[in-house]
Amino acid sequence: MKSLKIIVNIFIFFSCLFKSSAQIVVKVNEPKAIIQPTMWGIFFEDINMAADGGLYAELVKNRSFEFTQPLMGWKEQNKQNGSVLIVNRNGENTANPRFARVSVKTDEPYGLTNEGFRGMGIKKNNGYDFSVWAKLNEGDKSIIHAQLITSKNEIAGEAKIIVEGNDWKKYAVSFHSSVTDEKAKLNVWFEERSVVDVDMISLFPKDTWKNKPGGLRADLVQKLADLKPGFIRFPGGCIVEGRDLSNRYQWKRTVGNIEDRQLIINRWNTEFSYRSTPDYFQSFGLGFFEYFQLAEDIGAEPLPIINCGMACQFNSAEVVTTNELDNYIQDALDLIEFANGSTETKWGKLRAAMGHPQPFNLKMMGVGNENWGPQYIERLTLFTKTIKAKYPSIKLVNSSGTDPVGERFDYLNGELRKMNADLIDEHYYKPPEWFLQNAKRYDGYDRNSSKVFAGEYAAHSNLSDDADKKNNWQSALAEAAFMTGLERNADVVSMASYAPLFAHIDAWQWAPDLIWFNNLQSYASPNYYVQQMYSLNKGSQIVPIVSNSEVIAGQDSLYATACIDQATSELIIKLVNVSGKEQIQNILMNGVKKLSSTASATVLESNELNKANSFVHPEAIAPKEESSLAVKNKNILIRLMPYSFEVIRIKILDH
Ligand code: AHR
Repeated sequence: MKSLKIIVNIFIFFSCLFKSSAQIVVKVNEPKAIIQPTMWGIFFEDINMAADGGLYAELVKNRSFEFTQPLMGWKEQNKQNGSVLIVNRNGENTANPRFARVSVKTDEPYGLTNEGFRGMGIKKNNGYDFSVWAKLNEGDKSIIHAQLITSKNEIAGEAKIIVEGNDWKKYAVSFHSSVTDEKAKLNVWFEERSVVDVDMISLFPKDTWKNKPGGLRADLVQKLADLKPGFIRFPGGCIVEGRDLSNRYQWKRTVGNIEDRQLIINRWNTEFSYRSTPDYFQSFGLGFFEYFQLAEDIGAEPLPIINCGMACQFNSAEVVTTNELDNYIQDALDLIEFANGSTETKWGKLRAAMGHPQPFNLKMMGVGNENWGPQYIERLTLFTKTIKAKYPSIKLVNSSGTDPVGERFDYLNGELRKMNADLIDEHYYKPPEWFLQNAKRYDGYDRNSSKVFAGEYAAHSNLSDDADKKNNWQSALAEAAFMTGLERNADVVSMASYAPLFAHIDAWQWAPDLIWFNNLQSYASPNYYVQQMYSLNKGSQIVPIVSNSEVIAGQDSLYATACIDQATSELIIKLVNVSGKEQIQNILMNGVKKLSSTASATVLESNELNKANSFVHPEAIAPKEESSLAVKNKNILIRLMPYSFEVIRIKILDH
């Protein structure tokens, strides 16, 4: 019976072979474009609780009582024993004006409970660093008793500190958790009759990325590192623009001591009424220094985007007058000094004081995000002139607006190319069909003009299941197909990044997203694995892959690209089959003397376009290594599964 099945399979295989359309040819000795090391990168924005409540591992929400409602996230306990008063010392501390004055009137404790970011994720046997800025106002001492409480109301860990001095001082203590719980909370008990002032009440896990105290969530950074990204764009996105100019991202307020960083409301707090997130603020514990550090840690080029004197044009559309643009331009110049300047300079000195005397080697910067119209060109021109005059080697990324087609795009694209822009940032959030139809988008672009940064893109599937999150296989497969066109046009497209990057399962505003997380776990979407397969198989030089002498961009539902990795001397072929049928294809590799007799193959596939990954099935769709393929007389016969993305690597033994 088994042998009969094998014979049938062989028969199908050969009949498919003879029926298959024209043979695919790779012209190994006709290298075309160089693929930039920055080609595949990541886009980080503090949306979907990606920073506070996400990457930034702080567990206490509203630690400095600066939310619009100062006790949001906090709940009083044992009110009969004491009280809390929010004091504003605006005159002496404009960045962090509020603190809590806690009075304990009896010998019994009074408490404040922090709910965390939709709970606190705690792990059994992990260490926790509790800290608080405090000063005693009345009484001999105050005992501050930190207690981790599980969702079943059991104590998971605790520790005490004693406040005795009358000056502000940071107190810290560590303890372990005896329980793993996704929805824990923190009780802060105040014991002893006293009046004590407290601020910056903080709790961090010890197991942060590289175990840095007050650092980033290790599992989330690891997912970024595993992408081996060429660059990381930060801090967004619309967050750069702000709903109005007062709400724009100002990098200078995000560096220095964390207690001096001025919190603001997150623009995504109120953006979508159907995903309202009233407790969404930016503490800037994850600020520009940390972004640069993160970029360095994961081996990515930093790409900061700065405000160009314009607020979000979907919101207030406020602009600063060109007379007053100097401060904004100065922010850009100072940022370059912060990243690259010597430790003798004002901003380089701050970088050194924060622990990084070596420069961060910043090479590029974005001016504006999704800004459009003549008002953008007017401001951009002034930015460009001043930045290029002082730092001619810094490459500037310019916005082409919100859409890849239409009047706005055409105007900006024309103007920016006239200005000889270094990089033009294109964004597209479109249905999967758009991605399939646009795989040739860049084939016709001028090869001798500005380069493209595909700075934000994602296929938004309209299949009904998983309607909320949409990170299904259909969307990922369409992106894989489209990305063959980005790679094939590497002489035009220098950089690309999927967006957005992160989403907290209980607090997101925008979907789909690349990585989903809760307070303890995270999982990668199929779209993540598409990005990863491109990034880990980047290659350095494009070579033609054709069928009937034409690029393969949709014929027979097939998309393909090929490149050479000069470092490893390998030919890398990427094939995407967007049909529901298996395809047998023969690939002939021309223009090479000797290839290894086998090739490796990695496959991402699913029969179900609607399938998605989840916390329960994080790898329902994940890359699988196939058994090696035979290479005979420079031919390779491959069987492409229905709805699949396949990467083949073949060693070149002799050119
Ligand atoms: O990625 C989400 C948002 O989409 C970004 O903030 C913005 O640039 C775009 O509109």
